Amino acid sequence: MTEGVRSSARLGAARLDPMGALRRSHACGAIGTELIGREVVVAGWVHGRRDHGGLIFVDLRDRDGLVQIVFRPEVAADAHERAGDLRNEFVVLARGVVERRSPETVNPRLPTGEVEVVVHELRLLNTATPPPFAIDEDAGADETVRLRHRLHDLRRPPLQRALRTRHVLYQSARNTLSELGFLEIETPILAKATPEGARDFLVPSRLQPGEFYALPQSPQIMKQLFMVAGFERYFQIARCFRDEDLRADRQLEFTQIDLEMSFVGVEEVLAVLEELVWRAWRDTVGVELPRPFPRLSYEEAMARYGSDKPDVRVLLELVELTGVFRGTSFRAFGAAVEKGGVVKCLPVHDADALTRGEIDRLESFVKKELGAKGLAWVRVTADGSWQSPIAKFLSDAERAAIAERTQARPGSVLFFAADEFAKANAILGRLRTDLGRQLGRVDERAWAPLFVLNFPVFERGDDGKLTFMHMPFVAPVEEDLHLFDSAPERMHGTHYDVVMNGLELGSGSLRNHRSDVQRRIFEILGYSKAEMEERFGFMLNALEAGAPPHGGFAFGLDRMAMLLAGAESLRDVIAFPKTQRGQDLLMGSPSAVEDQQLQDLRLRIAPAPKGGDA
Ligand code: AMO
Ligand code: AMP
Repeated sequence: MTEGVRSSARLGAARLDPMGALRRSHACGAIGTELIGREVVVAGWVHGRRDHGGLIFVDLRDRDGLVQIVFRPEVAADAHERAGDLRNEFVVLARGVVERRSPETVNPRLPTGEVEVVVHELRLLNTATPPPFAIDEDAGADETVRLRHRLHDLRRPPLQRALRTRHVLYQSARNTLSELGFLEIETPILAKATPEGARDFLVPSRLQPGEFYALPQSPQIMKQLFMVAGFERYFQIARCFRDEDLRADRQLEFTQIDLEMSFVGVEEVLAVLEELVWRAWRDTVGVELPRPFPRLSYEEAMARYGSDKPDVRVLLELVELTGVFRGTSFRAFGAAVEKGGVVKCLPVHDADALTRGEIDRLESFVKKELGAKGLAWVRVTADGSWQSPIAKFLSDAERAAIAERTQARPGSVLFFAADEFAKANAILGRLRTDLGRQLGRVDERAWAPLFVLNFPVFERGDDGKLTFMHMPFVAPVEEDLHLFDSAPERMHGTHYDVVMNGLELGSGSLRNHRSDVQRRIFEILGYSKAEMEERFGFMLNALEAGAPPHGGFAFGLDRMAMLLAGAESLRDVIAFPKTQRGQDLLMGSPSAVEDQQLQDLRLRIAPAPKGGDA
């Protein structure tokens, strides 16, 4: 017999109806001085028990907080005797009278810390196995253990708060969009592949053997069909599924606040997004964001911050030096420029705190983690001379140009990256935020929302072919249509992102409502006529069935919740998240299935490919 079962027998928890006629009158967290002298009934989990001579103190926890309940033998001998058998996480109901604590026992850290409930009657509602870790702010256990025991983890205050914040966020978004005339409409989960560019999750069909549904990567196509179908304003809090490599800000399944509007241009969509974000921040954390939100073009964001989702609270900025090194005799930089790459610099002024050891550490970090070829640097010493591994390779003219563009002065340290555009920016963009935080070069604002606009429509993939930058339905801007034939990579699209504190909260665009433009884009992406019909035929037909001009957006709801809850990872704002390896450690998914199930689906598991790891 386990300890729990034994004490349960003594405590008398065998009843199926252990509460009898007794019902909770107050939440634990709601017991305050105004209730002194009143009888209350509280219910919850035993958070801790202390025996003090004749007295037994129990911290009782429900979702609203903790209250101390006290067992005194002279008040209720029976309850006092049984309280000695209570264990952590047992579920109880207690009737008692609220009393003021004696001054020396007041707990100022607890909202209910001035009072306690003196128990007259105790009912054990259920026993519990011992918790695997502390049900506290800090579990004191690593994440794998917490995820395996997610049930107990979810009882902890940070997760209770995070899921509450998430709840408020849902309601806020629903209210805002509903008031703005959006209709909430659901779309199928058993769907057809959509082109967000990640790998699909497939679901085999039993009724059509050999055929598969795809779980939607987003409701993109379906919401565009709603516009053609005449709903004009749609939204959905939508589940999306992408079989991609997981990071702190990516999960296999996640939630979008998805919306689409007809008869609008970019400005009308941005106005809705700003209203939604503004109200979400007000409703969840009580913050009124300054508006209108600032705007940056993609080009400016990349130039100044090396990122299309900059954290503009970090006060350091990059400087472009490619022109300075055209035809340079310094090979490392000259080679990058000849190949069409860039040379960029991150100047950090008043940087005496940056030691040589620290600079070396940064260099090995960017080489190892970001694939940098090197991290050239210059320190301007007190007498104005340059200490640097590359000074000897630079001409006087180059030194003068660098000094002028970076505003270098005694105490400055300059970091250089010479590489392809994307890589050089990724390296210095990362260094900018890391160093900025480390050196305290951050403005005081807690929140920095931003619209990023004017993205290119296409980009070149690693194979040199043009691919879409976001997705194939983004409408190009009118003025760039003439570039379709001559220079499609120079075309700008109507795409926009909402960025908060360096995190992409969401993205959207106006869509191609003209089928000829849509077909032209598919052509550039390399689809043959037959492939176009096969994959997107229904979409092209829809555009030809009277499609209004339309555009929309999708917020990553989990990412918003993560920021609002002050969490480090999406896993802290999702009730049952997947690990880095795509597993649910509580329920044990994914898992093998019965042979019969495979037979019904006419599937067979192939042996692992040679050299593959399954
Ligand atoms: P996009 O692919 O940019 O656009 O996704 C929109 C937002 O969804 C969030 N997000 C994710 N969150 C968690 N885990 C993931 N794996 C993940 N992937 C994306 C991000 C992202 O900004 N249909 C278009 C939107 C549109 O154009 O209307 C779309 O899905 O916050
Ligand atoms: P090397 O000539 O390769 O010894 O490099 C001289 C200095 O330039 C070293 O400090 C390297 O870290 C740096 N360096 C080399 N290649 C690059 C590059 N592509 N971008 C930035 N710094 C570089």
